[in-house]
Amino acid sequence: MDNAKTMIEVRDCWKSFPGKKAGEQVHVLERVNLDVHAGEFVCVVGPSGCGKSTLLNIIGGFIKETRGTAKVAGSPVNGPDPRRIFVFQENGVFPWLTVEENIGFGLMSKSAAHREERVAHYIGMVGLTGFEKSYPRELSGGMRQRVEIARALAADAEVLYMDEPFGALDFLTRLKMRADLIRIWQAEKKTIVFVTHDIEEAVQLADRVVVMSKRPATVAEEVKIDLPRPRDLDSPGYLGARDRIFAIMGMDVHGGGAGDPR
Ligand SMILES: Nc1ncnc2c1ncn2[C@@H]1O[C@H](COP(=O)(O)OP(=O)(O)OP(=O)(O)O)[C@@H](O)[C@H]1O
Ligand SMILES: [Mg+2]
Repeated sequence: MDNAKTMIEVRDCWKSFPGKKAGEQVHVLERVNLDVHAGEFVCVVGPSGCGKSTLLNIIGGFIKETRGTAKVAGSPVNGPDPRRIFVFQENGVFPWLTVEENIGFGLMSKSAAHREERVAHYIGMVGLTGFEKSYPRELSGGMRQRVEIARALAADAEVLYMDEPFGALDFLTRLKMRADLIRIWQAEKKTIVFVTHDIEEAVQLADRVVVMSKRPATVAEEVKIDLPRPRDLDSPGYLGARDRIFAIMGMDVHGGGAGDPR
Protein backbone atom coordinates (compact mmCIF):
# COMPACT_ATOMS: atom_id res chain seq x y z
CA MET A 1 0.00 0.00 0.00
CA ASP A 2 2.85 2.38 0.76
CA ASN A 3 3.76 2.51 -2.93
CA ALA A 4 0.19 3.18 -3.99
CA LYS A 5 -0.72 6.53 -5.50
CA THR A 6 -1.79 9.09 -2.94
CA MET A 7 -5.25 10.39 -3.76
CA ILE A 8 -5.90 12.66 -0.79
CA GLU A 9 -3.24 14.50 1.15
CA VAL A 10 -4.11 16.74 4.10
CA ARG A 11 -1.19 18.51 5.73
CA ASP A 12 -1.22 20.42 9.00
CA CYS A 13 -4.82 21.43 8.48
CA TRP A 14 -6.51 23.81 10.93
CA LYS A 15 -10.04 25.12 10.85
CA SER A 16 -11.79 27.72 13.01
CA PHE A 17 -15.25 29.16 12.65
CA PRO A 18 -16.38 32.55 13.92
CA GLY A 19 -18.12 32.05 17.27
CA LYS A 20 -21.34 33.65 18.50
CA LYS A 21 -19.58 36.54 20.27
CA ALA A 22 -17.74 39.22 18.31
CA GLY A 23 -14.13 38.25 17.70
CA GLU A 24 -14.60 34.75 19.16
CA GLN A 25 -13.24 31.78 17.22
CA VAL A 26 -14.36 28.17 17.56
CA HIS A 27 -11.37 25.94 16.97
CA VAL A 28 -12.57 22.78 15.28
CA LEU A 29 -9.55 21.16 13.62
CA GLU A 30 -5.91 21.40 14.66
CA ARG A 31 -2.88 19.91 12.93
CA VAL A 32 -4.82 17.32 10.97
CA ASN A 33 -2.72 15.12 8.70
CA LEU A 34 -4.30 12.49 6.52
CA ASP A 35 -3.25 10.45 3.50
CA VAL A 36 -5.64 8.31 1.52
CA HIS A 37 -4.35 6.08 -1.26
CA ALA A 38 -6.13 5.64 -4.58
CA GLY A 39 -8.60 2.79 -4.22
CA GLU A 40 -8.46 2.79 -0.45
CA PHE A 41 -11.54 2.66 1.81
CA VAL A 42 -10.95 4.90 4.82
CA CYS A 43 -13.43 5.45 7.62
CA VAL A 44 -13.24 8.49 9.89
CA VAL A 45 -14.68 8.14 13.39
CA GLY A 46 -14.68 10.46 16.38
CA PRO A 47 -16.89 11.99 19.02
CA SER A 48 -19.97 13.90 17.93
CA GLY A 49 -19.18 17.47 16.99
CA CYS A 50 -15.41 16.89 16.76
CA GLY A 51 -15.13 18.02 13.16
CA LYS A 52 -15.55 14.93 10.96
CA SER A 53 -17.97 16.61 8.58
CA THR A 54 -15.81 19.72 8.60
CA LEU A 55 -12.80 17.68 7.47
CA LEU A 56 -14.84 15.98 4.76
CA ASN A 57 -16.16 19.34 3.59
CA ILE A 58 -12.60 20.67 3.35
CA ILE A 59 -11.39 17.80 1.20
CA GLY A 60 -14.64 18.00 -0.79
CA GLY A 61 -14.02 21.68 -1.52
CA PHE A 62 -17.12 23.04 0.22
CA ILE A 63 -15.21 24.94 2.89
CA LYS A 64 -11.68 26.28 3.06
CA GLU A 65 -9.17 25.35 5.73
CA THR A 66 -7.93 28.18 7.94
CA ARG A 67 -4.36 26.95 7.71
CA GLY A 68 -2.55 24.06 6.04
CA THR A 69 -3.22 22.31 2.75
CA ALA A 70 -5.64 19.80 1.30
CA LYS A 71 -4.75 18.20 -2.01
CA VAL A 72 -6.66 15.70 -4.10
CA ALA A 73 -4.95 13.88 -6.97
CA GLY A 74 -1.95 16.15 -6.48
CA SER A 75 -3.81 19.47 -6.83
CA PRO A 76 -4.92 21.83 -4.06
CA VAL A 77 -8.66 21.64 -3.45
CA ASN A 78 -10.25 24.81 -4.77
CA GLY A 79 -13.93 23.99 -4.70
CA PRO A 80 -16.23 21.07 -5.46
CA ASP A 81 -15.23 18.85 -8.37
CA PRO A 82 -17.61 16.53 -10.24
CA ARG A 83 -14.96 13.80 -10.24
CA ARG A 84 -15.34 13.62 -6.48
CA ILE A 85 -18.85 13.16 -5.31
CA PHE A 86 -20.62 13.44 -1.99
CA VAL A 87 -23.09 10.77 -1.01
CA PHE A 88 -25.40 12.24 1.57
CA GLN A 89 -28.14 10.64 3.57
CA GLU A 90 -31.12 9.48 1.58
CA ASN A 91 -32.57 12.97 1.09
CA GLY A 92 -29.88 13.83 -1.45
CA VAL A 93 -31.92 12.51 -4.38
CA PHE A 94 -34.06 14.87 -6.45
CA PRO A 95 -37.70 14.17 -5.58
CA TRP A 96 -38.99 15.42 -8.92
CA LEU A 97 -36.88 13.00 -10.97
CA THR A 98 -37.41 9.27 -11.46
CA VAL A 99 -34.80 6.72 -10.40
CA GLU A 100 -33.27 6.58 -13.87
CA GLU A 101 -33.32 10.36 -14.25
CA ASN A 102 -31.65 10.80 -10.88
CA ILE A 103 -28.94 8.29 -11.74
CA GLY A 104 -28.37 9.82 -15.18
CA PHE A 105 -28.28 13.35 -13.80
CA GLY A 106 -24.51 13.77 -14.03
CA LEU A 107 -24.44 12.39 -17.58
CA MET A 108 -26.47 15.04 -19.38
CA SER A 109 -23.54 16.01 -21.58
CA LYS A 110 -23.20 12.43 -22.87
CA SER A 111 -25.12 10.84 -25.76
CA ALA A 112 -28.51 9.31 -24.96
CA ALA A 113 -27.25 5.82 -25.81
CA HIS A 114 -24.21 6.14 -23.53
CA ARG A 115 -26.36 7.52 -20.75
CA GLU A 116 -28.94 4.76 -21.03
CA GLU A 117 -26.29 2.07 -20.95
CA ARG A 118 -24.56 3.46 -17.87
CA VAL A 119 -27.81 4.10 -16.05
CA ALA A 120 -29.02 0.55 -16.72
CA HIS A 121 -25.68 -0.88 -15.59
CA TYR A 122 -25.72 0.93 -12.26
CA ILE A 123 -29.41 0.32 -11.64
CA GLY A 124 -28.56 -3.37 -11.90
CA MET A 125 -25.50 -3.03 -9.71
CA VAL A 126 -27.40 -1.43 -6.83
CA GLY A 127 -30.37 -3.79 -7.20
CA LEU A 128 -33.03 -1.36 -8.39
CA THR A 129 -34.02 -3.12 -11.61
CA GLY A 130 -37.77 -2.74 -12.07
CA PHE A 131 -37.85 0.65 -10.31
CA GLU A 132 -36.44 2.75 -13.17
CA LYS A 133 -39.60 4.84 -13.53
CA SER A 134 -40.33 5.19 -9.80
CA TYR A 135 -40.08 8.48 -7.95
CA PRO A 136 -38.11 8.73 -4.69
CA ARG A 137 -41.33 9.05 -2.65
CA GLU A 138 -42.30 5.58 -3.87
CA LEU A 139 -39.08 4.03 -2.53
CA SER A 140 -37.88 2.97 0.90
CA GLY A 141 -35.04 4.84 2.63
CA GLY A 142 -32.56 2.10 1.68
CA MET A 143 -33.65 2.21 -1.94
CA ARG A 144 -33.25 5.99 -2.05
CA GLN A 145 -29.77 5.56 -0.64
CA ARG A 146 -29.00 3.10 -3.44
CA VAL A 147 -30.11 5.74 -5.95
CA GLU A 148 -27.61 8.17 -4.39
CA ILE A 149 -24.79 5.66 -4.64
CA ALA A 150 -25.70 4.69 -8.20
CA ARG A 151 -25.74 8.35 -9.23
CA ALA A 152 -22.25 8.87 -7.88
CA LEU A 153 -20.98 5.73 -9.61
CA ALA A 154 -22.67 6.49 -12.93
CA ALA A 155 -21.04 9.91 -12.99
CA ASP A 156 -17.74 7.99 -12.77
CA ALA A 157 -16.51 9.83 -9.71
CA GLU A 158 -13.04 8.68 -8.72
CA VAL A 159 -13.59 9.54 -5.06
CA LEU A 160 -16.73 9.11 -2.99
CA TYR A 161 -17.14 11.17 0.14
CA MET A 162 -19.77 9.63 2.38
CA ASP A 163 -20.98 11.42 5.51
CA GLU A 164 -22.98 9.01 7.68
CA PRO A 165 -24.74 7.82 4.53
CA PHE A 166 -26.58 5.00 6.30
CA GLY A 167 -27.36 6.95 9.46
CA ALA A 168 -31.07 7.23 8.77
CA LEU A 169 -31.59 3.57 7.89
CA ASP A 170 -32.86 0.79 10.13
CA PHE A 171 -30.38 -1.77 11.44
CA LEU A 172 -31.00 -4.57 8.92
CA THR A 173 -30.99 -2.21 5.97
CA ARG A 174 -27.71 -0.73 7.20
CA LEU A 175 -26.14 -4.18 7.31
CA LYS A 176 -27.30 -4.93 3.79
CA MET A 177 -26.10 -1.53 2.52
CA ARG A 178 -22.66 -2.08 4.05
CA ALA A 179 -22.33 -5.44 2.29
CA ASP A 180 -23.50 -3.89 -0.98
CA LEU A 181 -21.13 -0.96 -0.68
CA ILE A 182 -18.17 -3.29 -0.15
CA ARG A 183 -19.17 -5.37 -3.16
CA ILE A 184 -19.49 -2.25 -5.31
CA TRP A 185 -16.22 -0.78 -4.03
CA GLN A 186 -14.40 -4.04 -4.83
CA ALA A 187 -15.87 -4.07 -8.35
CA GLU A 188 -15.31 -0.38 -9.07
CA LYS A 189 -12.02 0.33 -7.27
CA LYS A 190 -13.07 3.78 -6.08
CA THR A 191 -11.42 5.73 -3.31
CA ILE A 192 -13.89 6.13 -0.45
CA VAL A 193 -13.74 8.39 2.59
CA PHE A 194 -16.60 7.41 4.85
CA VAL A 195 -17.50 9.32 8.02
CA THR A 196 -19.46 7.48 10.68
CA HIS A 197 -19.95 7.72 14.42
CA ASP A 198 -20.49 3.93 14.44
CA ILE A 199 -17.24 2.17 15.27
CA GLU A 200 -18.56 -1.27 14.34
CA GLU A 201 -19.60 0.05 10.94
CA ALA A 202 -16.11 1.48 10.45
CA VAL A 203 -14.39 -1.81 11.32
CA GLN A 204 -16.71 -3.74 9.03
CA LEU A 205 -15.99 -1.49 6.08
CA ALA A 206 -12.57 0.11 6.16
CA ASP A 207 -9.03 -0.71 5.13
CA ARG A 208 -8.06 1.84 7.74
CA VAL A 209 -9.95 3.67 10.47
CA VAL A 210 -8.89 7.21 11.27
CA VAL A 211 -9.82 8.03 14.86
CA MET A 212 -10.23 11.71 15.66
CA SER A 213 -9.93 13.22 19.11
CA LYS A 214 -12.54 15.51 20.59
CA ARG A 215 -12.67 19.13 19.49
CA PRO A 216 -10.36 20.82 18.65
CA ALA A 217 -9.82 17.61 16.79
CA THR A 218 -6.74 16.03 15.39
CA VAL A 219 -6.05 12.49 14.21
CA ALA A 220 -5.60 10.60 17.49
CA GLU A 221 -4.62 7.33 15.84
CA GLU A 222 -5.05 5.28 12.68
CA VAL A 223 -5.97 1.62 12.91
CA LYS A 224 -5.30 -0.62 9.93
CA ILE A 225 -7.98 -3.28 9.49
CA ASP A 226 -6.17 -6.09 7.77
CA LEU A 227 -9.03 -8.58 7.73
CA PRO A 228 -10.47 -10.48 4.77
CA ARG A 229 -13.90 -9.46 3.44
CA PRO A 230 -16.71 -10.21 4.00
CA ARG A 231 -15.70 -9.76 7.61
CA ASP A 232 -16.50 -12.21 10.34
CA LEU A 233 -17.98 -10.11 13.11
CA ASP A 234 -17.18 -12.79 15.71
CA SER A 235 -13.52 -13.15 14.74
CA PRO A 236 -10.82 -12.16 17.25
CA GLY A 237 -9.33 -9.79 14.64
CA TYR A 238 -12.58 -7.90 14.22
CA LEU A 239 -13.33 -7.72 17.95
CA GLY A 240 -9.76 -6.71 18.73
CA ALA A 241 -9.80 -3.83 16.25
CA ARG A 242 -13.19 -2.68 17.48
CA ASP A 243 -12.12 -2.74 21.13
CA ARG A 244 -8.91 -0.93 20.32
CA ILE A 245 -10.82 1.92 18.70
CA PHE A 246 -13.24 2.08 21.63
CA ALA A 247 -10.22 2.31 23.93
CA ILE A 248 -8.63 5.11 21.87
CA MET A 249 -11.91 6.97 22.23
CA GLY A 250 -11.83 6.45 25.98
CA MET A 251 -14.52 3.80 26.24
CA ASP A 252 -14.38 0.36 27.76
CA VAL A 253 -16.77 -1.93 25.89
CA HIS A 254 -16.52 -4.61 28.57
CA GLY A 255 -16.98 -2.23 31.47
CA GLY A 256 -20.67 -1.56 30.86
CA GLY A 257 -19.92 2.03 29.80
CA ALA A 258 -21.41 3.80 26.86
CA GLY A 259 -21.38 1.62 23.77
CA ASP A 260 -21.95 4.63 21.58
CA PRO A 261 -19.58 7.57 21.59
CA ARG A 262 -22.38 10.15 21.43
N1 LIG B 1 -20.35 26.73 9.40
C1 LIG B 1 -20.08 26.65 10.70
N2 LIG B 1 -20.04 27.76 11.48
C2 LIG B 1 -19.74 27.68 12.79
N3 LIG B 1 -19.45 26.53 13.42
C3 LIG B 1 -19.49 25.40 12.71
C4 LIG B 1 -19.80 25.39 11.32
N4 LIG B 1 -19.73 24.10 10.87
C5 LIG B 1 -19.41 23.36 11.94
N5 LIG B 1 -19.26 24.13 13.04
C6 LIG B 1 -18.87 23.65 14.37
O1 LIG B 1 -17.75 22.82 14.22
C7 LIG B 1 -17.80 21.72 15.10
C8 LIG B 1 -17.63 20.44 14.32
O2 LIG B 1 -18.76 20.22 13.50
P1 LIG B 1 -18.87 18.97 12.52
O3 LIG B 1 -20.20 19.04 11.90
O4 LIG B 1 -17.69 18.94 11.63
O5 LIG B 1 -18.77 17.76 13.55
P2 LIG B 1 -18.99 16.20 13.32
O6 LIG B 1 -17.82 15.50 13.90
O7 LIG B 1 -19.34 15.93 11.90
O8 LIG B 1 -20.26 15.92 14.25
P3 LIG B 1 -21.43 14.81 14.13
O9 LIG B 1 -20.83 13.49 14.54
O10 LIG B 1 -22.45 15.26 15.12
O11 LIG B 1 -21.92 14.81 12.72
C9 LIG B 1 -19.12 21.84 15.85
O12 LIG B 1 -18.84 22.41 17.10
C10 LIG B 1 -19.92 22.78 14.99
O13 LIG B 1 -20.79 23.54 15.78
MG1 LIG C 1 -21.03 15.23 10.96
